Amino acid sequence: MTNRRVIIDTDPGLDDALAILHALNCGRFEVLGLTTMAGNIGIDNTTRNAGRLLAAMGRSDIPVITGAAGPLVRSVIDISDIHGSDGLHGLALPEPQTAPLDDAIAWMADLLLAEPAGSVDIFALGPLTNIAGLITQHPKAAARIGQIIAMGGAVDEPGNIGARSEFNFATDPEAADIVFRAGPDLTLVPLDVTRKVRADATWMNNLRGTTAGTIAADVIALYFGDGRQSRPLHDPCVMLLALDPSLFGVEERYLAVDLGDDGDAGALKPARTGTALLKVAMQVNAEGALDLLAKGLTRA
Ligand code: BDR
Ligand code: CA
Repeated sequence: MTNRRVIIDTDPGLDDALAILHALNCGRFEVLGLTTMAGNIGIDNTTRNAGRLLAAMGRSDIPVITGAAGPLVRSVIDISDIHGSDGLHGLALPEPQTAPLDDAIAWMADLLLAEPAGSVDIFALGPLTNIAGLITQHPKAAARIGQIIAMGGAVDEPGNIGARSEFNFATDPEAADIVFRAGPDLTLVPLDVTRKVRADATWMNNLRGTTAGTIAADVIALYFGDGRQSRPLHDPCVMLLALDPSLFGVEERYLAVDLGDDGDAGALKPARTGTALLKVAMQVNAEGALDLLAKGLTRA
């Protein structure tokens, strides 16, 4: 089987870091670049963290490309209590070996136009600002994306920002709306499944041994910093769905994004036929997902 060629659009971030480590180590993806956005902790931190993770993995040949410094129209949401003031809670990593490139949107457009149509997928691990920019500024390039798998939203599950809104879509609801309406091959991985795929101390300790697994265990230990016994592995679920869709129950739903100002912007609402029909992961075999994630992180 040939490896999937992917752009990882990301804001590392603890769970982004786990997802990136898995993608680099599992041997099943050809990672073409890490495009960044401010998301979890500001564009300078997320971009630096992307480069630091690549350096730690000996993969500084993969470019990091700086993307959106903030949402399309709204103010940033501060969640530094979760990810720490540097985005990785002080995790010791080498500094980036190469400087980041500028302009994630232009870089994605050039790549998509240069490669065969449909041959490059995007794993979207943060607010959809960069992808919305690609769609509006370079529609011909955007039409050549293979598929987008995006962590975001909450369908039947409570939100983690507002009562029904999840961080990635709450941060940039207008971007999510643009992406939904454009009608790409889009699969959402919402809180409904990511909250069920949880790391506990035993699972974490079994990761140590490989470089990726040891860094991942260190990341999860920091994620436990507030004394909780388990933490959800949101972003890695994107890679797991790409690798083994049979672990997930994917349904088709008509959904729209709340664009209001009542504190629940970014929430997903059932929508009438004729709006965006999305594929949404609504069930997960959590044990199987954790096994697949551990296997990818510990592959020697
Ligand atoms: C999402 O928000 C971010 O904090 C995580 O990295 C993940 O992408 C979960 O709501
Ligand atoms: Ca993220």
